[in-house]
Amino acid sequence: MSKKSVGITGIGASLPKKIVTNKDLESVVDTTDEWIRKRTGIEERRVLEVGQNLSDLGAQAGKDAISSANISVDEIDMIIVATGSPELIWPSTACLVQQKMGANSAAAFDLQAACTGFTYGIDIACQLLSSGGYKNILLIGAEAMTRYVDWSDRSTCVLFGDGAAAVVIGEVEEGLGIISSDLGADGNGSDLLEIPNSGSAITHDKLGDVIDQTIKMNGADVFKFAVRVIPATIESLLNKSGVMLEDISLIVPHQANKRITYSAAEKLGISKEVMVSNISKYGNTGAASIPLALFGLENEGRLEKGDLIITVGFGAGLTWGSNLIKWSKTS
Ligand code: UT7
Repeated sequence: MSKKSVGITGIGASLPKKIVTNKDLESVVDTTDEWIRKRTGIEERRVLEVGQNLSDLGAQAGKDAISSANISVDEIDMIIVATGSPELIWPSTACLVQQKMGANSAAAFDLQAACTGFTYGIDIACQLLSSGGYKNILLIGAEAMTRYVDWSDRSTCVLFGDGAAAVVIGEVEEGLGIISSDLGADGNGSDLLEIPNSGSAITHDKLGDVIDQTIKMNGADVFKFAVRVIPATIESLLNKSGVMLEDISLIVPHQANKRITYSAAEKLGISKEVMVSNISKYGNTGAASIPLALFGLENEGRLEKGDLIITVGFGAGLTWGSNLIKWSKTS
């Protein structure tokens, strides 16, 4: 029996209303709009307001994805939230999203692979669906990065933004959908990008201590890792799929820095136009950045049914991952 084809059948996104521009950040840290634009490509980012939480964004993105898939919420049998900035450690953000959506038939869990989470989630959903145990999986990339940034550290606070985007993954027309994935990790680089004093690593010297749970990054080393790993995982993905780079219409990379994705494009010998970029509007939204970019492409009519695209993520862990997808969804 041939393996059934599974792919993206619905897509949605939700962003906080509050926009913080580079100019706004000039009064927060010693930075300039010019530095941020030149060194990263970022112009503005969205920031969650007080009273709004990650599960609110995730649930809205999820509802929109379900309506775009033309199915009812009861038809979702699993919710996976890829996030590196969960609302709480317990319960999972996925359970909070499930409750807000009323997705009562769905199992729910969080997937922690930092900014690479969405590419891991695509492969996991694909395997679960192919085995026949599930019909419709809602995969949400959601981040509240600004709740974890050190607003006194100019080398990190200017980079991140909040947002969520979701896809429904289910059966698609034969020959379309998720073709293959390439995932990897190297825990030896775990200290290059971390929230060190978090989770069960939190230690109190004395009760009442204020705990600093903020992102720490060795930017230069993470930059080099990203420029090395993007072409490497794409080459490995193409090798295992027997597809040529020339056949790829668009590469949708994790949005961390425009200079990273353009350097990777140069290494791959492809034009910058093939490397999708929306970092100017949203900054680095972690595991949400790839589905957010896919949502933009779908809505702008830049994806045709049958187009071969690659999604590629990288981030803390260190982790990386890529997926080859023959596009199935068109608005
Ligand atoms: O999603 C997870 C993955 N994350 C990433 O992939 C991020 C990877 N890293 C990067 O994107 C870049 O390394 C950064 C954007 C973080 C930094 O860019 P850079 O061009 O590598 O800057 P740098 O760290 O080499 O710093 C150059 C200068 C330094 O000043 P000095 O030492 O030359 O006087 C920094 O202090 O720029 C300074 N600087 C800033 N200046 C103005 C660092 N941040 C800022 C800032 N505004 N916001």
